[in-house]
Amino acid sequence: MKNQLTYESVPELVDHIVENHHNYIRNTIPHLLAEVYKLAINHGDLYPFMKRVFILFSQIKSVLESNMTSEENIVFPFIKVLEKNDDRYTDFKLLPLLINQVKEEHEFTAILMNKIRNATNNYEIKAGYCMAMQLAIASLKSFECNLLIHIDLENNILFDGAIAMQSRLFKASA
Ligand SMILES: [Fe+2]
Repeated sequence: MKNQLTYESVPELVDHIVENHHNYIRNTIPHLLAEVYKLAINHGDLYPFMKRVFILFSQIKSVLESNMTSEENIVFPFIKVLEKNDDRYTDFKLLPLLINQVKEEHEFTAILMNKIRNATNNYEIKAGYCMAMQLAIASLKSFECNLLIHIDLENNILFDGAIAMQSRLFKASA
């Protein structure tokens, strides 16, 4: 898959990621985090694990906010101009460093999300859960699904493809 990335497909892929994943995160996190908070505080006796879910999801929020800002302001623009072979953007060492940083953030986020999966027993909706709890668990499950697709698109297609493009450029100009 990573070899399919071309200069022409980069802007479309970046737009797809921002529209379907970054915007989804920005639209979903505030109200979902508020719902999880309410369940942890108001129904902590019924759902004691929701306090842990709240802490984990709060951490995910801060990591992803910073990660998306780095991607949209630094990494994506860098990749978009790779083919221009502009001296400012073809520093052979900088792009892999930036990409390693955002990949580490993805890995950390996936670990946190997996902890939420474990805390909720694989997003199990038990008989007797109130409607708010059922919705929160289903939303967390959807959030994880969107996140894993997002991380796969970036890590394995956009970023690995960009490194391969940069390597071809470097060889071509050497
Ligand atoms: Fe992203």
